[in-house]
Amino acid sequence: MPLNHGNILHLQKAKVDAMIKLEIEKSPLLVAKKASLFYQELLAQKPNAVLGLATGSTPILLYKELVKLYEKKVIDFSQAICFNLDEYCHIPKEHPQSYNTFMHEQLYHAVNISSKNTFIPKGDEVDLSKECKRYNALLQEHGPIDLQLLGIGRNGHVGFNEPNTELEIGTHVVKLKDETINDNSRFFDTDEEVPKYAISVGMKTILTSKKILLLAVGKEKATIVKELLESRITTNIPASLLHLHSDITLICDEAAASLL
Ligand code: PGA
Repeated sequence: MPLNHGNILHLQKAKVDAMIKLEIEKSPLLVAKKASLFYQELLAQKPNAVLGLATGSTPILLYKELVKLYEKKVIDFSQAICFNLDEYCHIPKEHPQSYNTFMHEQLYHAVNISSKNTFIPKGDEVDLSKECKRYNALLQEHGPIDLQLLGIGRNGHVGFNEPNTELEIGTHVVKLKDETINDNSRFFDTDEEVPKYAISVGMKTILTSKKILLLAVGKEKATIVKELLESRITTNIPASLLHLHSDITLICDEAAASLL
């Protein structure tokens, strides 16, 4: 096809569409407030939206904001469907550090999300490969996810898709990397207790979401945020695959953006 002016404009638009949209906020609280607007807007337009949710320290302030918005009757979760990215293996779902417990404590107990509409992989199942298939089937049935929330690991993982020579497509069991086990150990009393395996959705679930909201706060995320924004696509930084998505917003606080 000859490259006339129209084509050039088209190519330029494609390039712009493919970029990760970056927003920098002064503080973690302002990151959470900005992120909460995505939920306010989405659920106002589509009350039965499918939300891909994340755990870890990053989304805690966002969940607090969502609870506040719910209490002010600005947001309604009654028809929302929620899928979590991951869960630790080999700990009961009632364990204080399970992601199931986290979601109930941080969000579910305080808003009107129906328990029949919340899905988290069951890491305590005996047959974990059967559980992965079950979770994939649920995602197929209810998906695609309208808004996928992500944090980013210091090693570039998203969900528990850890850096590797190959990445998984669907929900899978993952052996956690030492640096992830180390990062997670702050939540557990002893090193032995820290889970070494997790179930995680694969890159396909993340990349087929309609919209992605990636949050990064704190100076310990500054290096990976810089690497992500400057990197080409590599399975050594699973988050770099997010460059393939056409509607992704990264909201950082000033500390996480400090090396940009
Ligand atoms: P964090 O974890 O929010 O606790 O930093 C992010 C992640 O590992 O995805």
